[in-house]
Amino acid sequence: MVRHTATSVVTIERFIIEQERQFPEATGELSGILYDIALAAKMIANKVRSAGLADILGAQGTDNVQGEAQQKLDVLSNEIIVKAMDHGGRLCAMASEEEPDIIPIPEGFRCGKYVLLFDPLDGSSNIDVNVPVGTIFSVMRKITNGRHGTLEDMLQPGRRQVAAGYVIYGSSTMLVYTTGQGAHGFTLDPSIGEFLLSHPDIKIPNTGKFLSVNDSYEQHWSDEVKTLMRHYRGLEGGSKPLSVRYVGSLVADFHRNLLAGGVFAYPAHAKSPKGKLRLLYEANPLAFIVEQAGGCASTGHCRILDVQPEELHERTPLYIGSKHEVELANDILAGNV
Ligand code: AHG
Ligand code: MN
Ligand code: MN
Ligand code: MN
Repeated sequence: MVRHTATSVVTIERFIIEQERQFPEATGELSGILYDIALAAKMIANKVRSAGLADILGAQGTDNVQGEAQQKLDVLSNEIIVKAMDHGGRLCAMASEEEPDIIPIPEGFRCGKYVLLFDPLDGSSNIDVNVPVGTIFSVMRKITNGRHGTLEDMLQPGRRQVAAGYVIYGSSTMLVYTTGQGAHGFTLDPSIGEFLLSHPDIKIPNTGKFLSVNDSYEQHWSDEVKTLMRHYRGLEGGSKPLSVRYVGSLVADFHRNLLAGGVFAYPAHAKSPKGKLRLLYEANPLAFIVEQAGGCASTGHCRILDVQPEELHERTPLYIGSKHEVELANDILAGNV
């Protein structure tokens, strides 16, 4: 593989082609999906950047299947992705946080051999207060016969992903993705409308600096989770306390911890017995990225990528980031410490 440095001017399209060339049997379909996702990301970035000026802030007035009040940008981002992806001929179905059921490819369009699952806008509660939000996506190969994708094609363990990534609409717009050959970051140059390679082969520090957790749920945590948080905060176990940074957008918290080292924890608790975050289009794609970067992602009891999904929108507890902190979570939640 061509070894790029952060100063070489490499567009995401060129990088995708270079990666594809390593696989003579590649048909270019996965590359096409990644191009289309990059296009959708630019379109969403354009809307997010000017959300305060157009009438696209605030609530849509509808609830999604999660029981959340949909924000106008949730719905708009969802439409942008569906319209950018539904006619490329590479997908046979899609699934979105914002849609109750799988999204079929419209009649008249060719069906391909991949399914796409996505969180069109992550961190919606932050839109109106101008705090970074994101998009998260996951690609898997169709495993059933027939032309259209089915629920069975979606309900595969995360280790079956062929590509995954996220976009963060922050101080700059960045797209980070993996196809299993490392995790690579691209920064949007708005003056030319191109994602340029800025973070080749990202590696997460083995030991974290930051802890991202919403501890307003402490009263609902199990004793093991409370013990784990005391360890993270340096109150037990003798480790240096982690600095607490919690944005309320999973993508923003995850991205900071990926680059600087840290752990994001969203435990299950009495009021959310399976946690809050969604397995298929939040935990799985970020788990693929973090493992490619040398980190870990766990439910607290097993590797996220090994969980066998039962439902499209199922939730999972999530401990994700630096290896040391996630392994500590596994040990303490198993009662080994
Ligand atoms: P989404 O906006 O896609 O529904 O995701 C929101 C998620 C995630 O982004 C964030 O980490 C978490 O909700 C915050 O939950 P709390 O407000 O309960 O801390
Ligand atoms: Mn939501
Ligand atoms: Mn989300
Ligand atoms: Mn969302």
